[in-house]
Amino acid sequence: MTATIRRIGVLTGGGDAQGMNAAIRSVVKAAVLGHDWNVVGIENGLDGLIPQPPHTRRLQLDDVRGVLPRGGTILGSISNGAFTPMLKGEQRNPDLYEAVACNVRDLEIDALIVIGGDGTQWIASHLAEFGVRAIGVPKTIDNDLYGCEYTFGFDTALNVATRAIDALHTTAESHHRVMILEVMGREAGWIALHAGIGGGADVILIPEISFCLDAVAAKVRDRDAEGATFSIVVAAEGAQSTENGRQPFYQPTNGRLGGVGDYVATGVEERTGKECRVVRLGHLQRGGGPTPFDRILATRYGAAAVRFLAQGHTGEVVVLQGSKITTIPMTDCAQRLRTVAPDDELICTARSLGIAFGDEACPATAAA
Ligand code: F6P
Repeated sequence: MTATIRRIGVLTGGGDAQGMNAAIRSVVKAAVLGHDWNVVGIENGLDGLIPQPPHTRRLQLDDVRGVLPRGGTILGSISNGAFTPMLKGEQRNPDLYEAVACNVRDLEIDALIVIGGDGTQWIASHLAEFGVRAIGVPKTIDNDLYGCEYTFGFDTALNVATRAIDALHTTAESHHRVMILEVMGREAGWIALHAGIGGGADVILIPEISFCLDAVAAKVRDRDAEGATFSIVVAAEGAQSTENGRQPFYQPTNGRLGGVGDYVATGVEERTGKECRVVRLGHLQRGGGPTPFDRILATRYGAAAVRFLAQGHTGEVVVLQGSKITTIPMTDCAQRLRTVAPDDELICTARSLGIAFGDEACPATAAA
């Protein structure tokens, strides 16, 4: 059954990711050219639909001209908005949803396309109870959306991290140092794992495999003994050490994830006497324009969201599974992460190349 749709809203929520504008452009072009729908841009995620009047902008074909290669989002986004407390365990606030639903009705929007990660999709999964139809588009550089093989933003972040590892090789080799690159990813190690393999790192530390400093230091010493007087360590920001009680590292200044690189540097220097230097790549992984892969994937997702809406779907997220784009219920991917399985083929491949994950030869108690 083709849904009776005349106008849709589109929004971007959560941390920005390269490809958001490509997705917005695809939604607008597919909706206007394919269905003659009106498209309303909602500013700053779902929060833009709370105030009276709501924060919106016109989105016609000329409004998305030239945005395909641009990073960020022309609609703006916020990571810590009015809905954030519910992401931190508080009861959802029905008044917020009523305000959103009221504006959706007043704007005569028949359905929303919600571009966002696990948090945004979980927030959006409650819209149905307030009479708002929605389809999700999976976005995050972390690539950790449950049920989705690739989210857009990941490939571009991976490119940034891999090029950083390439650059660190030359200075590490020149100074016989251990260079430690701390990358993003929250509780998933996909960026670290892919960039570590693609960049030729010697040690990869990910949240899914607890490491111990003794094992990392042992790998550094082994490389020295083989005549390679430098080492490259890639550490996901969510990586945890057994010596530190498998607790994530948070920055003392703002409480955000970060600091595992410094912890590893101190531990390796103490155990090996080698100079260590740390680079925290931070938001460089979120900035700049999308790679062709991310442009194409975001375009596919945007067009698919329009297609599924037109077929009457709602409360679902478009996802890539194998080479196909299908949908899963928003509630399936909401607040549920896709993390690296310890026996993932990439882990096996890396280990077969001698890449250490910091869990080798840990003291028995630590490894337990
Ligand atoms: O979820 C994407 C992400 O970039 C994470 O990898 C990172 O930990 C977090 O967002 C940073 O959030 P913010 O941009 O709010 O500092």
